[in-house]
Amino acid sequence: DWTPGSVIDETVAQIRSRVGEARAICALSGGVDSAVAALLVHRAIGERLTCVFVDTGCMRAGEPEQVVETFSRHLHIPLIAVDARQRFLARLEGVTDPEQKRKVIGEEFIRVFEEEALRLAQEQGPISFLVQGTLYPDVIESAGRDTASTATRIKTHHNVGGLPEEMTLQLVEPLRWLFKDEVREIGLALGLPEEWVWRHPFPGPGLAIRVIGAVDEQRLETLRAADAILIEELRRAGLYRQVSQAFAVLTPVRSVGVMGDGRTYAQVVALRAVTSEDFMTADWARLPYDLLARVANRIVNEVAGVNRVVYDVTSKPPATIEWE
Ligand code: XMP
Repeated sequence: DWTPGSVIDETVAQIRSRVGEARAICALSGGVDSAVAALLVHRAIGERLTCVFVDTGCMRAGEPEQVVETFSRHLHIPLIAVDARQRFLARLEGVTDPEQKRKVIGEEFIRVFEEEALRLAQEQGPISFLVQGTLYPDVIESAGRDTASTATRIKTHHNVGGLPEEMTLQLVEPLRWLFKDEVREIGLALGLPEEWVWRHPFPGPGLAIRVIGAVDEQRLETLRAADAILIEELRRAGLYRQVSQAFAVLTPVRSVGVMGDGRTYAQVVALRAVTSEDFMTADWARLPYDLLARVANRIVNEVAGVNRVVYDVTSKPPATIEWE
């Protein structure tokens, strides 16, 4: 019989026999999969697991704080939180092409993570394993690739103050036999907060692909504020879990508006909410008009520089869920 408890016991035993007395590292994204993978490995090897959380500056409101709060203070799992916001912003400057944004963020993420891994190895001794939250559907997609024979090489890209040159890590993928709903159950059983367990998927490049066109700190801040209002109102209406994904997009469009006696010429925010089984196809969510009205009102009143809010009523296909 499938119970979270039996899967946890079995998985923990497997991790223990594989990792032995060695040390492991795990990148936390803020999502469910990496968090549950980390919790399982922590249960198996305790303090010999270190988690790394990279703040790219493209996270949603309160997210970096929540990762630190939950892992360090609540779950007592060793966590290195890296504030890399300026690095990412600098790399993103002037980049407008969506695929280029993804590439820049992906590369920078790997650099930051590798630096931290090498630094940690230097300070506390060799690290042999890299924990990843790969799910069963991902494994099938990559044609059953064998974890035990997969290794990742980590190396310095530029000279960072006498760190070791390189390090080879074996993969640990404790979720590779599990589906998403099973991962959620296990997460709950391991003490991951409900809000985290049921969080909508969030793309790796984060808000950078929801600020359409050039990304800067100001535009990220504007989007973050608008997005937080949408999510807050959606939760308050009790509809968060009924949609698969909901978010705000900061368009590059300016539109004319009126405020008091004056004319404004300010930014347009688009709201997107979809229902989907597998994210390959999606339908736009029929959110109640009153909810949309409340969100729009709050955004134009509370978020400086925004004077218009529109709702995206396109399904996938032909549109995608994200705008970039
Ligand atoms: P689209 O926009 O292609 O999105 O309909 C389908 C799902 O994938 C997510 N998505 C991404 N996730 N890195 C990610 O980790 C990405 O670059 C990326 N692009 C899209 C999107 O949020 C949706 O859940």
